[in-house]
Amino acid sequence: MSATLVDLLTAIESRASALKLIEPGPTRAHLEQIMRAGVRAPDHGRLRPWRFVVLEGAARAKLGDAMARLSLAKFPQSTPEQLDGERRKVLRAPTIVVVAASITQGKIPEVEQVAAVAAGVENMVLVAQALGYGTMWKTGAAAYDAQAKTALGLTAQDQIVAFLYLGTTALAGTATPASLDGIVTWTK
Ligand SMILES: Cc1cc2nc3c(=O)[nH]c(=O)nc-3n(C[C@H](O)[C@H](O)[C@H](O)COP(=O)(O)O)c2cc1C
Repeated sequence: MSATLVDLLTAIESRASALKLIEPGPTRAHLEQIMRAGVRAPDHGRLRPWRFVVLEGAARAKLGDAMARLSLAKFPQSTPEQLDGERRKVLRAPTIVVVAASITQGKIPEVEQVAAVAAGVENMVLVAQALGYGTMWKTGAAAYDAQAKTALGLTAQDQIVAFLYLGTTALAGTATPASLDGIVTWTK
């Protein structure tokens, strides 16, 4: 096998969500490289559905505030400390890329446009890993909330596919084995 293929297989087999991320986040050049990998995913109809919002530093509060608001709506008895805990969840990484699908109505089904964006997220994860960064793919209630989307600069119709947390790995996760048990039907 060529060295390049070994690298690709190793990257895929060793991929795991980071358990703890710290500063520094990806540089601007690395973030651009990561997002360019995202838009290399297969894209039915070449609709370019990907939308990225990069949250760094204080801008992460746009997401943290939405998470606290939604948590309060779900748990009205929340204490200020609990809400602060929600707000602080965005501090789990120095950089968060909000990855969304901007849906074009027409002959390409919406699910395929979301699939193109999700495929792009995996490209982003692998490239971030290759550049030496750790990632966590998160969603949660804010991903499905119209007010949160507009606060992040998206439209209420956009579909958030990932809050991609990026940073320097302080604690690595463990890759799950690539088991095919119970998943494949072989036919001839
Ligand atoms: C669309 C999507 C949304 C996810 N949302 C969350 C989330 O909100 N919180 C979380 O802990 N994990 C979430 N995950 C799962 C993690 O990113 C992770 O992949 C999973 O825990 C398996 O761990 P691994 O990545 O180390 O294999 C999500 C994954 C996908 C594909």
